[in-house]
Amino acid sequence: MSIRKDFPILARQSRGKSLVYLDNGATTQKPQVVIDAIDQYYQRHNSNVHRAAHELAEEATQMMESGRSLCQAFINAESRKEIIFTRGTTEAINLVANILTQRIKPGQDILITELEHHSNIVPWQMLAERTGANIKAVAITDEGELDLDDAAAKLTKNTALFAFTHVSNGLGTINPAKVLIKMAQDVGALTLVDGAQAILHLPVDVQNLGCDFYVFSGHKLYAPTGIGVLYGREALLEALPPWQGGGEMIEHVTLTSSTYQSAPYKFEAGTPNIAGAIGLGAAITYLQQQPIAELVAAEDALVSRALSGLQQIDGFRLIGEPAKRSAVISFLLEGSHPNDVGTLLDQQGIAVRSGHHCNMPLMTRLEIPGTVRASFSLYNNDEDVDRLIAGVSKATTFL
Ligand SMILES: Cc1ncc(COP(=O)(O)O)c(C=O)c1O
Repeated sequence: MSIRKDFPILARQSRGKSLVYLDNGATTQKPQVVIDAIDQYYQRHNSNVHRAAHELAEEATQMMESGRSLCQAFINAESRKEIIFTRGTTEAINLVANILTQRIKPGQDILITELEHHSNIVPWQMLAERTGANIKAVAITDEGELDLDDAAAKLTKNTALFAFTHVSNGLGTINPAKVLIKMAQDVGALTLVDGAQAILHLPVDVQNLGCDFYVFSGHKLYAPTGIGVLYGREALLEALPPWQGGGEMIEHVTLTSSTYQSAPYKFEAGTPNIAGAIGLGAAITYLQQQPIAELVAAEDALVSRALSGLQQIDGFRLIGEPAKRSAVISFLLEGSHPNDVGTLLDQQGIAVRSGHHCNMPLMTRLEIPGTVRASFSLYNNDEDVDRLIAGVSKATTFL
């Protein structure tokens, strides 16, 4: 079963060859239904939301709010109030880091891990600077898995928050999120899970996970850029202050003070990305109509096929060998820089990413400048894998 035909861009060429798109960790392509949903919104319903007493505003509001309900169901949040629209994962983490400012005490620990994307590092460093907290990080093993003994040692009564990625964007490691959340809860720490790389590949159930916050970006889930979700536990969101001030987030305003709406609107100041939220809703609806278990199993098989083919190539060095891997393969070719490999693959119409993948501390830990990363999605097929293997093999002859 192939869903390729639903994604018009996959029919185009790149560098004169049929496109092999293996940069899905960076962003995914969009199915026609998502493109149509955005188009239809601007052609037929465009209006500001929540504001005016006219039909267009009512339609736009209904369409955006239905996107929120779809997100709620998709991650099994208990209430729609727990779904805050943001620009993406990065903004969602910054939002949480800002609203926690009053809660974090000098000398407390904010625990992250060596696997994190810069988005799940820098906002916490800024929070630590504002509050006098310390940043600590859970170490990884040489295989690229979190060292759970180190996590246990670093999670103490002094830990205010544990923020970690569900799936590593650099190595593909799937972290045992539920176990980590339970360990954090046992010491009374809040938890934030960065779901940017997990949301398309793993079933996410925030109630089952038990996390306080879960964040993801729409564009990694076949939705447009500029829209993402912050899930937060309702009781916690109600207890926390707003971040940005402005229209929509208020209940009453005087010239000297204001009262605020409840969640989610308290955290959504200003005109939101209405078309983005509608596009995200369309992407989720699209996914719900697919045989997801079958597609994910096929994706796993592609990753295995790619790994076994690539490992036959002289000079191929796999970076990260976690027991549980998502749809990411990071590698180096002996004696060459990842950017050169990326360029040689690009010349063959194969789109991969090379560099540090916003994982500088991880690359430092592994003592490498970066990697070449092939990241898969549900529309990739055997031909993509075979082209990748042949492309890498050819690259070795040039390097
Ligand atoms: C694990 C992880 N976290 C955070 C981000 C940041 O996502 P965005 O740029 O959509 O905010 C990414 C993007 O690559 C990611 O892979």
